[in-house]
Amino acid sequence: MSDLVHDLPDDTIRDALPLKWGSVAPGVLPAFVAEMDYALAAPVADAVAAAVRRGTTGYAPLGDLGVGEAYAGWAHRHWDHAVEPDACVVTGDVIAGIRLVLETLCAPGPVVVPLPCYPPFRDIVAVSGREAVYVTTDPDAPDQESAGLDLAAVEEAFAAGARTLLLCNPHNPLGRVPRRSELEALRDLADRYGARVVSDEIHGPLVLPGLPADLGFTPYAGIDPRAVTVTSASKTFNTAGLHCAVVVAPDHADRALLRGVPLVQNHAYSPLGMVAARVAWGEGDAWRAALVERLGHQRDLLADLLTTHLPRARMRRMEATYLPWLDLRAYGHDDPAAVAVGHGVAPAPGQAYQPGLAGHVRLNVATSPARLTTMVERLAAAVA
Ligand SMILES: Cc1ncc(COP(=O)(O)O)c(C=O)c1O
Repeated sequence: MSDLVHDLPDDTIRDALPLKWGSVAPGVLPAFVAEMDYALAAPVADAVAAAVRRGTTGYAPLGDLGVGEAYAGWAHRHWDHAVEPDACVVTGDVIAGIRLVLETLCAPGPVVVPLPCYPPFRDIVAVSGREAVYVTTDPDAPDQESAGLDLAAVEEAFAAGARTLLLCNPHNPLGRVPRRSELEALRDLADRYGARVVSDEIHGPLVLPGLPADLGFTPYAGIDPRAVTVTSASKTFNTAGLHCAVVVAPDHADRALLRGVPLVQNHAYSPLGMVAARVAWGEGDAWRAALVERLGHQRDLLADLLTTHLPRARMRRMEATYLPWLDLRAYGHDDPAAVAVGHGVAPAPGQAYQPGLAGHVRLNVATSPARLTTMVERLAAAVA
């Protein structure tokens, strides 16, 4: 196995990841937030450290410091997806980018949010003054094949006036890669109703090894020219706190609108984040390859651990992300995450992703084999 991915040691991890490790009591293993317990990729760490030494800690520049070029190169190398560097508008983070797009580019009207969803999707729709229309994917579909978007419900929402859909591609928390055919059907619907898809592709690079050859990540904008993509290097490279994401707007008028907003509407990106994003996307291929290999092993380890310790848990194949979605209803707890904390492991509660949904948790396998083993043992002790 590649030696590029290093586990953060116990004695520094609380300082390194103060939200994840600092918000649980000492001794509790946190698995609720999407951060990885791995040291920064060396090229990113070196570039950011050098930028700090140079004093690159002032305001962000007016240009993009090469971020658009780096993302365009990444999208081309990894997915053969053509992105114009100038289409990339820098923003503070993905959620801020989605808000900017909703406020600036999206027609008035409700926003379709597929459930379960990353919880800030619901908040950002509310904060931007829009009504959300929820369409639900069965969180317990028997396999990933049948866990896709409910296109009939999407059509109903468009027919009733919704003009925007927030897509999570690949999907958190379902760990699923949307099929190309499903995305094409969504595109056809969006086209028919004049709706716009906003595609959050932060997990795009985190498709795991060992999937069928025809099951790869499809950048949504590659099949729908009206779509806007929002993404960042922060999930793959653990750089969320540096604040840099991009809104990718293929349409020139859209770019102009995004760039024309008052500074206060899009100012929360940092030059250090821009350096990190440029280097991650420009020089991070080897790290990403090593990372997904490591995550693939962690996924396989989790499957073995569940068989041994939690045989009544149900988990569909993890196709992407490091965030497995577990159905623990067989163990009879409405809120297994709350029970687990008392036993020394803190997963995310399923109802955070779909209000009212009992008996599910989202875990995080981006840690060491030893920590993951202890997490599952503790979870089993908690719910059994
Ligand atoms: C689907 C999705 N979008 C966005 C984010 C957060 O991204 P950011 O910190 O850039 O807003 C996450 C974090 O886990 C996520 O899973």
